[in-house]
Amino acid sequence: MKKKIHDKHFVPFLSEAQIQDAVKRIGQQINQDYKDVSPLFIAILNGSFMFASDLFKQLEINAEISFIKLASYKGTSSTGTVVTAIGLEATLHNRDVVIIEDIVDTGKTLSAFIPQILDHHPHSLKICSLLHKKEATVHPIKIDYLGFEIPDLFVVGYGLDYDGLGRNLHQIMQVEN
Ligand code: IMP
Repeated sequence: MKKKIHDKHFVPFLSEAQIQDAVKRIGQQINQDYKDVSPLFIAILNGSFMFASDLFKQLEINAEISFIKLASYKGTSSTGTVVTAIGLEATLHNRDVVIIEDIVDTGKTLSAFIPQILDHHPHSLKICSLLHKKEATVHPIKIDYLGFEIPDLFVVGYGLDYDGLGRNLHQIMQVEN
């Protein structure tokens, strides 16, 4: 079934079952990798709220989660994109940190944010993203836990929006071209 959001039409891309299978698979990997420590998850709002919630429910280990918002603006030519993390109150020093993203597109957001986390000297840092548009990469990011590699097409649903709408879809839909 097609869906119209604002001026665009979207068609089904990843079903709810496919997404939930990926969430379970990633949850199992994390349960295995972090069984002896209690990691701190940092979920980046708004897009990751649904993925972070479903993934967190899969965890059987002791774990904490904190939700942050990133405000990005253009710095000087030497600083490039600058991001400010809003709501990052947890102490990261010596913690095993896992960043949860909805989608890594160009990699610009994470490449600006990761050094800020590393400044706090966590014990370890891993990246978890539901989606990755490899072809759109400008700043390569090593994604440790990934749901799906997807083509460079605009998608909505399961937390991702098109100009504010579409986040409530259980599936992920791609723009019709
Ligand atoms: P990046 O900095 O280019 O990697 O972009 C990351 C952010 O752009 C994501 O967290 C999303 O908020 C947004 N984004 C990138 N691609 C899409 C898409 O296809 N649909 C919805 N949001 C997207």
